[in-house]
Amino acid sequence: AEKAKVTVHYSMADGQTVTVQSKEGENLLDIAIENDLDIDGFGINKVTVKFVMRDGSTVSVRSKVGENLLDIAIENDLDIDGFGACEGTLACSTCHLIFEQPIYDQLEEPTDEELDMLDLAFELTDTSRLGCQVCVTKALDGLTVKVPEGVADARDV
Ligand code: FES
Repeated sequence: AEKAKVTVHYSMADGQTVTVQSKEGENLLDIAIENDLDIDGFGINKVTVKFVMRDGSTVSVRSKVGENLLDIAIENDLDIDGFGACEGTLACSTCHLIFEQPIYDQLEEPTDEELDMLDLAFELTDTSRLGCQVCVTKALDGLTVKVPEGVADARDV
C-alpha cells in the first residue's frame, strides 16, 4: 500500500514558513534535503553524483553520504536496463560502473569477491567497479560514473 502523505511546516531562520509534503516514516533531515530547503549546515552530508547514461546524457542526482551507487541509481529511478539484477548481493556484475581515474584512485580497495565478479562484467576497464559495492563519501562529491553500454549477468554465464 502507498505510504500516507504528511505535511511538514518548516519555520525557517528568516521567519518564513515553508510547507512541504512527505511520506510517512521519513526523517526531518531527509525531508528538508529532498525539498532543497536552504538551511545552513543541513544536507552537509549530501553529495552530487553524475551518471553518464548509455545514450550519452548525464543525469545528476543528490545522495546521502554512505549510500552505494546501486541504491542511488534505484532511488532516483535511473532507467538503466538490467542494472542491479542481483540487488546488491554481489552475484551478477550488472551494476558495473566506470569511474574517472582520480576518483577510482580514491575508492576503497575492492574485495576479492568483487574482483571475481567484476571479471565477468561487460566491457571491463581499468577503472571499473561494481556500483553496489561503492559507497559515496563527502570526498567524492561531484563524481561522475559512466554506465557501460551493456550488461553481462554473471548468473547467466
Ligand atoms: Fe549484482 Fe552489484 S547488483 S553485483
